[in-house]
Amino acid sequence: MKEQLEAIRESALRAIQEAGAAADLEALRIRYLGRKGELTAVLKRMGTLSAELRPAMGQMANEVRAALEQAVERQSAALEQKALEARLALETVDVSIPGKREDIGHRHPMYTALDEFKEIFINMGFEVMDGPEVELSEYNFTKLNTPDDHPAREWTDTFYLDEESRTLLRTQTSPMQIRALETYGVPIRMISPGRVYRKDEVDATHSPMFHQIEGLVVDKGITMADLKGTLNAVIQEIYGAGTQTRFRPHHFPFTEPSCEVDVQCARCGGKGCPTCKGEGWMEVLGAGMVHPKVLSGCGVDPEVYSGFAFGFGLERMAMARFKINDLRLIFENDIRFLEQF
Ligand code: DAH
Repeated sequence: MKEQLEAIRESALRAIQEAGAAADLEALRIRYLGRKGELTAVLKRMGTLSAELRPAMGQMANEVRAALEQAVERQSAALEQKALEARLALETVDVSIPGKREDIGHRHPMYTALDEFKEIFINMGFEVMDGPEVELSEYNFTKLNTPDDHPAREWTDTFYLDEESRTLLRTQTSPMQIRALETYGVPIRMISPGRVYRKDEVDATHSPMFHQIEGLVVDKGITMADLKGTLNAVIQEIYGAGTQTRFRPHHFPFTEPSCEVDVQCARCGGKGCPTCKGEGWMEVLGAGMVHPKVLSGCGVDPEVYSGFAFGFGLERMAMARFKINDLRLIFENDIRFLEQF
């Protein structure tokens, strides 16, 4: 029995020390120290020994058990330590490595121009409204007093969405005049920026998608003087104090009278240069007094109420504000361009 105990001690200690994983170690513990383990089996046979031998063998068996238990504990601690060290090595942070630069974007210059524009109007008591880009012909044209044979209604100019020409991608933000009046009634003071679409070829001044900002004021006693005063004040804010403006007669179906507004070219002071194409003036918006038919079509009595409306081109405004000379730059999203603002 003594040899047996020695043999168990030796082989068990070696195996325990060599155990490389917690599961292996547990298997060894069960194999030697478990209820059906090898050491337990020897202990069970203790009763067959003579009374003389029993105490010495008992003591030895207890020593072997204690030694094995200790070895298991030690190995278990060693394995845990090793696992910890491996994890720490894996998760080491080298604080001396230079950091990665995050490229943080910023607002697109056109939206910066729009924010400034909104701010000016909000300060004058206007509300800002959003409208649908997919619009009914009725709102884009008919309710805006546009005759059935008007050239803007042609399939060659407008992106229609059905065979019957009932729905389209809006060609202007003016339908928001109708939606605003129908939804909120009078008095009203609003602007509505957004995308518009036309079948135009792309060049330095054209794009099939661009942005407009519509404006509408309707109240009792609104006159052309309010239109001029308001738009002049806004233009001074955007293009700088002292900017000269020119109100030219024009025609729009939904305003009467109508005008286009030009600002004097800041680059040449009106003499004519490449920026203004030799004109000395640059067109910035269309405007006019809201047509009585538009008002009555929205349930507003034109005998009691009057108003003015206007439509700015947002790209053109951003181009003037940031001295951008080609419309395509605004839409191409070239980082080398955008980083300059
Ligand atoms: N919707 C016109 C266009 O796209 C611009 C415009 C002109 C808007 C006169 C208006 C206006 O509100 O009164 O050319």
